[in-house]
Amino acid sequence: MPNVNLSRQTIPRDPVLLVQEIRRLKAERGALLLAHYYQDDDIQDLADFVGDSLELARAAQRSRARVIAFCGVRFMAEVAKILNPEAEVLIPSLEAGCSLEDSCQPEDFRRWREEHPGAVAVTYINCSAAVKALSDVIVTSSSAEKIIRQLPANQPILFAPDRHLGAYLRRKTGRDLILWPGACVVHEQFSLEALAGLKVAHPRAWLVAHPECPEGLLAQADFVGSTSAILRHVTESVHDEFIIATEPGIIHQMEKQAPGKRFIPLPGGSGECACNICPFMKKNTLSNLFECLRDGQPRIEMSEELRLAALKPLERMLEMAAAPTP
Ligand code: 13P
Ligand code: SF4
Repeated sequence: MPNVNLSRQTIPRDPVLLVQEIRRLKAERGALLLAHYYQDDDIQDLADFVGDSLELARAAQRSRARVIAFCGVRFMAEVAKILNPEAEVLIPSLEAGCSLEDSCQPEDFRRWREEHPGAVAVTYINCSAAVKALSDVIVTSSSAEKIIRQLPANQPILFAPDRHLGAYLRRKTGRDLILWPGACVVHEQFSLEALAGLKVAHPRAWLVAHPECPEGLLAQADFVGSTSAILRHVTESVHDEFIIATEPGIIHQMEKQAPGKRFIPLPGGSGECACNICPFMKKNTLSNLFECLRDGQPRIEMSEELRLAALKPLERMLEMAAAPTP
């Protein structure tokens, strides 16, 4: 951690002062603040850059800041550390996990790979560094289709850990992907009943969805894409009313970039997470962001051996995602 003299100040109770103090600590640390769209509005407003998983990985890689304060989930902060080992990567809460990461433990993943010799492991970025290290290429929701299309036609492919994204990619590419049975607790259980009601109440509304949603919902969607792709779509579209089938944190940027349009969050159903809010993303708050900038922790640590092993498939992703489209 850089040698800055930061006092152990208590968390300001006044929200305006809290934001001011976060800005001050951020400047003292020389920190770049990266945030995902599913963070609370006030965190997004403090960020130097807000993006989807691929854009955040690229921003972390090109950053020259001594410190990256990563407001997203842990696997995203790990990616920042893997791509930019010189930077101290702070995350407000180490409890900011992901149900997809939890569903795919490295030992199980290793066995799965052994059961399919000769198959290439294409792994969604929503996994631990240890699983990345056991993979051939990483993908994000915005790069997966392009990357899979670059693999030889007869190449058997394992896809982990999101079975819904995997099934969507099967339909899009026509490739016979072998799927790991994981799912996102938020996207898996949007309510189809609530969707039917919203469609009746808002017949002109355009349905936009993240590919982590199940097929039954995606089949009804007018547009499917990563968080950034959805944001771009609603901003550029001639339509002015949208039902949003992804975490509603993204509506903050939609309202900023397309004022005057209407964004209706699709409610969650009755599953494990009975709402549409990502419980992991919301572990980060203004208070623990303040503490993490004040204390220089929690921070992402990993062995150099693990970092280098996870770096390979991430670099392959960045290369394949940037390749010219044939
Ligand atoms: P994006 O890469 O589309 O931002 O997705 C990240 C994520 O965790 C979606 O649930
Ligand atoms: Fe993971 Fe789902 Fe949260 Fe995205 S929304 S971080 S996939 S649990």
